[in-house]
Amino acid sequence: MTRVRTEAPYSTELDRQLKAATRAAWAQGDYHRFAKATVWGGGEVLVEACGIRAGDRVLDVAAGTGNTAIRAAQRGARVIASDLTPENFEAGRREAAEVGVELEWVEADAEALPFADGEFDCVTSSFGALFAPDHQVVADELTRVCRPGGTIGMLNFTPTGLISDFFGALAPYLPPPPPGALPPPLWGDEDHVRSLFGDRVSDLRTERRTYLERAASPQAYCDLFTETFGPVAATYAALADDPERRAAFDRDFLAFATGANRTPDGPGAEYAYEYLVVVATRA
Ligand SMILES: C[S@@+](CC[C@H](N)C(=O)[O-])C[C@H]1O[C@@H](n2cnc3c(N)ncnc32)[C@H](O)[C@@H]1O
Repeated sequence: MTRVRTEAPYSTELDRQLKAATRAAWAQGDYHRFAKATVWGGGEVLVEACGIRAGDRVLDVAAGTGNTAIRAAQRGARVIASDLTPENFEAGRREAAEVGVELEWVEADAEALPFADGEFDCVTSSFGALFAPDHQVVADELTRVCRPGGTIGMLNFTPTGLISDFFGALAPYLPPPPPGALPPPLWGDEDHVRSLFGDRVSDLRTERRTYLERAASPQAYCDLFTETFGPVAATYAALADDPERRAAFDRDFLAFATGANRTPDGPGAEYAYEYLVVVATRA
């Protein structure tokens, strides 16, 4: 069963429309296939960094198909996986069943979490909450639902890492960000994160790490995104009626995938993404 918050979380009609468009984009493609081929190692990293233990009450925000949430449940935690895009929960449930754990799946916007103050021992988000446009509101919400003494943990792409080249190559084709939205990779800037959480956390620790994404070739890497990664799949599908623009997209994306490949002499293609592990104690 998927729980949905009952009161309207949106302050304006524009916000409601923007969130509906975001959800529709992330529902395209096959997020679980994408995640298993790319970011899936991150869940284990975050659960370990947060020291999640059996019995902990954990909220994973922007959980996708449960990368971090399922790993927390495997440690015996009582877990809610929340995300704006419930269309992806079924794949998450299947993955959870395959590894023999159960968790609750709740539709929720990271900017308006439908949970009580201090409800969780640990609040996590792996490469997820950073996609919500208002960073301060997200930090406020992650902090609010975590109990004093509890742990907030995030994995955030860094602005100096490959993700900025990735978004740079695709920006001309992706929908413009909502008015006032900050770039997602800013969440990978330590000073920015410290200022967002302020004195509501103590003992904020960060660590820069890198993970690798691999594909059979740069073209196969592009195909993975256009077939499975919601925002890119949605953009690519919308270009179907514009062959010239679609050809330009193909050219620009392949130029990125070729230039960023760390193993140009093969075999296969390899992409190194830098990210920041953030762990803080709720004051
Ligand atoms: C790259 S995926 C990360 C998913 C998962 N945490 C993982 O590690 O695989 C980003 C996720 O953010 C979700 N998302 C985007 N905007 C959101 C928002 N405002 N509130 C909650 N989730 C959001 C998307 O639906 C998507 O599942």
